Amino acid sequence: MEQAASSLPPPARFGATDRKDNWWAAPLTVLIALSAFGVYATFRVVQNAWYAIDDTASAHILSPFYSPLIIWDGMPRWLSPGMLILWAPAGFRLTCYYYRKAYYRAFFLDPPACGVGEPRRNNYLGERGILILQNVHRYFLYLALGFIVILTWDVIKAMMWPDGFGVSVATLILLLNTVFLGLYTFSCHSLRHLVGGRIDCFSCAAMGQARHKAWKGVSKLNSSHMRWAWISLFTVMLADFYVWMVSSGVITDFRFF
Ligand code: FES
Repeated sequence: MEQAASSLPPPARFGATDRKDNWWAAPLTVLIALSAFGVYATFRVVQNAWYAIDDTASAHILSPFYSPLIIWDGMPRWLSPGMLILWAPAGFRLTCYYYRKAYYRAFFLDPPACGVGEPRRNNYLGERGILILQNVHRYFLYLALGFIVILTWDVIKAMMWPDGFGVSVATLILLLNTVFLGLYTFSCHSLRHLVGGRIDCFSCAAMGQARHKAWKGVSKLNSSHMRWAWISLFTVMLADFYVWMVSSGVITDFRFF
């Protein structure tokens, strides 16, 4: 064993690489995009205002940053309803297998990219130590599935106008966001393991056929998990921003019918 270890090449100097492509472009883009989202989401949650369109002439439209809306009499003014719930979707994204790869590279340069020298030397622990907490991802998945149900209910409420059924731009944006958040959640690696993992023979297992179908469906979505991760990050911000603009009177929500 010792002989094999000593035959390994010495670790490359930080940043050293033979790559000729723009390997730094992806981690830099991730750094900018995730930082921008983090700043925006933190501001909106602390702002604690303009998160619902609830005048008497329209349907009830709620920002996804504040859904489900938890408010009680005597609630401290500094406490925003968004703070009470956003830890769950934030935890789901932070422990996501795809985002882990992305932010380990972008924020910790660990490594900056494939085939590029990293800052640490010979003390690679993998996701052990404190990072073993990343294993809570499966529990955040259970919460995220609940959020999809709640956001679907929000879309239904956004079609219930005082004079009956109706659809506005806000309704469509909430719907779009829920669809992409659903694609992101249902393409999760943990969900794929949940429906099809720890099983050697689908046809021998209880509910084997149903599990095989579910596993194939999740696997198909899973191949585009990174895409759903980014699109849903954008749509959730778009949905919140639209509600902010309409509820603060900057723009008017257009009703189609
Ligand atoms: S692996 Fe990305 S959401 Fe589960």
